[in-house]
Amino acid sequence: MRHLMSPLDLSVEELDKLLTLANDIEKNPGKYAHACEGKKLATCFYEPSTRTRLSFESAMINLGGSVIGFSSADSSSAAKGESVSDTIRVISCFADICAMRHPKEGAPLVASQHSSIPVINAGDGGHQHPTQTLTDLLTIRSLKGRLDHLKIGLCGDLKFGRTVHSLINALIRYPGIEFVLISPNELRVPEYIREDVLIANHIPFVEVERLEDAIPDLDILYMTRVQKERFFNEEDYIRMKDFYILDKAKMELAKKDMLVLHPLPRVNEISVEVDNDPRAVYFKQVQYGVYVRMALILTLLEIEV
Ligand code: NCD
Repeated sequence: MRHLMSPLDLSVEELDKLLTLANDIEKNPGKYAHACEGKKLATCFYEPSTRTRLSFESAMINLGGSVIGFSSADSSSAAKGESVSDTIRVISCFADICAMRHPKEGAPLVASQHSSIPVINAGDGGHQHPTQTLTDLLTIRSLKGRLDHLKIGLCGDLKFGRTVHSLINALIRYPGIEFVLISPNELRVPEYIREDVLIANHIPFVEVERLEDAIPDLDILYMTRVQKERFFNEEDYIRMKDFYILDKAKMELAKKDMLVLHPLPRVNEISVEVDNDPRAVYFKQVQYGVYVRMALILTLLEIEV
C-alpha cells in the first residue's frame, strides 16, 4: 500500500505518469466519472483549510466516490485527547483513503504507519504540502510545456511556507532548474533546505530581498503569503505582512510569458489589479489541483480506467 507524505515519494517517472493522467482527466472528465463508485475518501483536517479540503472532496465526488470527514480538531475526537494513530485506525474501518492535514510536522507520517488505507499528507505544519506541489507541477507543465530549464522565483515567506519547501524538493530533480529566493532576511528558506537540498544537490540559487530586481529574468514567479499562524508574535507579522505586493507596475518588468502562481489564500501580496493579466494563473492552478488530486486518488487506490 502506498501513501503520499512528500513529493519525493513518487519517482520522476511516476510523477510524469500522474501528471499525464491528470491532463487526460482534464480532457475527458466523463471517462472517469464512475471510477471510484462505492469508494470513500476521509478528509481529516486538524487545521483550517478551504481549498485543499474542498479540492479533495470535489476530486472524489468527480470520480463518483463519496466523502466523510471533519474540518477542525475541535470537531474530532482529538478534542477528547485521542491520538492520531488511534484516529487513523478508526478511520481505516470507515474509508478507503484518507487525506490528512495537521499543524504538527510529521503527524500524517505517524498516521500512515498505523493505517490500513492510503494516507495523503494534505499539509503538516511548516513542513510539506505534497498535493499543492503536484498542483504546481501540473500547472507549470500544462501551461509552460515543461518542468526543466526554468528560472523560478519563490517570493514571500520562504521560512514557514510549506508549499515552497515541497516545491523546491520536487523541482530539483529536473535539469536546468534555477531558483531566485526572494524574501525578507527573517523569512529566508530554512537552513535544511539551503544546505541539504539546494547546496547538497548543486542547484543554482540566489537569495535576494527585492522583487523588482529579480522579476525581469524569471520564467515562473511563485508568490506566497506571510504565514501568520506560524509567527510567535503579532508585531513581527505586522512588520512583514506587506513586504511584497505584486502590482501592475512590477508585472511590467516581467517577461511576456512569465507565469504567476500562488497556492492561495492570497492576502495582500498580489494586488487584485494583476488578476486580469493573462500571466496570472493562480485561479487556473486551483482547477489543476482538482485534476491532479483525482489522478492521485486513482493512483493510490490502484484504479485503472
Ligand atoms: C497553502 C497551505 O495550506 O500551506 N494553502 C493551500 O493549501 N492552498 C498556502 C497557505 O496557506 O499560504
